[in-house]
Amino acid sequence: MIPSITLTNKEQELGHLVVIVSKFSKLPTGIFSAAEKTYLKGQVETLKQDVVSFNRLSYCIYVYFIKEEHDPSKRLEASRNAGDKVAGLFNAQKATRVTIFDTEPDGDLVLAFAEGMALGSYQFLKYKRDRENENTLQEIEIYSKTLEEPENDPSSLRPSSLVPRPSSFVTRHASRVTELNIVLEAVALCRDLINEPNSFLTATVFSKEVEKIANEVGAKVEVLNKQKLAALKMGGLLGVNQGSHEPPTFTVMEWKPAGSLNAKPFVFAGKGVVYDTGGMNLKPGDSMLNMKDDMSGAAAVAAAVYAIAKAKLPVHVVGLMPATDNRPGEKALVSGDIITMNNGMTVEVLNTDAEGRLILADALSYAKKYDPALVIDLATLTGAAVRAIGKFGAVAMQSNAAKELEIFKTSGYHVFERLVEFPMWDEYGEQIKSDLADLKNLGPAEAGMITAAKFLEKFTSYPYIHLDIAGPAFLDKRDSYRGQGGTGFGVRLLFDFIFRYFATSLPRH
Ligand code: BES
Ligand code: ZN
Ligand code: ZN
Repeated sequence: MIPSITLTNKEQELGHLVVIVSKFSKLPTGIFSAAEKTYLKGQVETLKQDVVSFNRLSYCIYVYFIKEEHDPSKRLEASRNAGDKVAGLFNAQKATRVTIFDTEPDGDLVLAFAEGMALGSYQFLKYKRDRENENTLQEIEIYSKTLEEPENDPSSLRPSSLVPRPSSFVTRHASRVTELNIVLEAVALCRDLINEPNSFLTATVFSKEVEKIANEVGAKVEVLNKQKLAALKMGGLLGVNQGSHEPPTFTVMEWKPAGSLNAKPFVFAGKGVVYDTGGMNLKPGDSMLNMKDDMSGAAAVAAAVYAIAKAKLPVHVVGLMPATDNRPGEKALVSGDIITMNNGMTVEVLNTDAEGRLILADALSYAKKYDPALVIDLATLTGAAVRAIGKFGAVAMQSNAAKELEIFKTSGYHVFERLVEFPMWDEYGEQIKSDLADLKNLGPAEAGMITAAKFLEKFTSYPYIHLDIAGPAFLDKRDSYRGQGGTGFGVRLLFDFIFRYFATSLPRH
């Protein structure tokens, strides 16, 4: 559970308060004494603090002083980080309700602050009996002149200065706060799925969890079982599953509201390896740690479609989630095996630890039946992506979707799930040709994230974007509001992309 965000236009009662301000002259009157203002100035100007605290008898006031920053994405991110910091302070004192007093002219910063507070309060405590350190914050109220208009009057929904909103969306979505709550709830849900260990989250349980959330929001959901997968000749997914005692699943979640803006759907595909031991090419030493996160792509897809459906966005989207664990076993694939994929192509499996591309390739071939406007996959695909850019962003590649990727990159900066584009040059494709089969699943040691993407590209025939999220999907150590463990990377990104795509109006949909 994460705290929910609400708007208030009540007169302030005495309670925990955060004041967001960019200039001393804008400090609300009647809250601070002259001595306190002098103290605040000293903390901000001399000590360069951005969060300053004032202890009253029964409550606390924190002032978040917005630093000058011209890059809008950095401003928003600083606000999220400050929100996380302040939430930590409030949770430490067991506060349950906090009001944010906004003095800024646009609502973006206060919403980002609330976002940081809410996501920073996330915890995964399902298996913990000692709840002493459980976060207490439940309600974040925003008192904001900019956002205070009544929710049901569409004309009052001011488009954000940063997220362009097409008119057809403005009248349809409830309000920015409602939307924010929905997407944050989806991030929490995504994190829960990632943080669940394989002892609970088998492929079957994953598909059941997706069925639950799809039913909650009225999205269509279908789970293809092993028999169906065999009938569909999903050789990649079935091959990876061979070593497991648990059957694979392939979950399809679809949101197709009447009056969708896109005639052709967006398809999101997510890698759902519920545990990656490496298979017969067993991962050595510590490299197997945290491999329960290898379904982060599938979790992000499920959560993004959930958020889009819950917000009732007028877009047709389909989520494809192939799922299995990857283990050694009597029947497991061994190096040199040749498998036939869903689209009939043959693949020489040279390393059983390069399994993600095998299950995703089947999902990408399956995506063709939707005649998609665009297919985006998210996958914790390669260590090479982590080595290239670390945890600070995801590696992105595209084929025939350069404009779409530009929009995605803008979304990436806005939600601070940043993307770095790598090339899809033909030469990398040459490196995964096999002597014995059509393709091999292993390229040279260099540029492994690119050869993996080239492998996937062979199974596509539509505008395609590949996101390798191996770096940012899961964090060993807590990093601000991203937390520790599953971060939910991709959910806020996909949600933002939908708005931006329709506001940019590309010819394709
Ligand atoms: N799931 C891993 C990639 C990964 C690495 C995710 C680190 C998160 C953190 C993937 O299945 C894998 O094992 N890839 C291999 C591919 C190699 C054998 C070509 C890798 O990157 O080492
Ligand atoms: Zn692997
Ligand atoms: Zn993997």
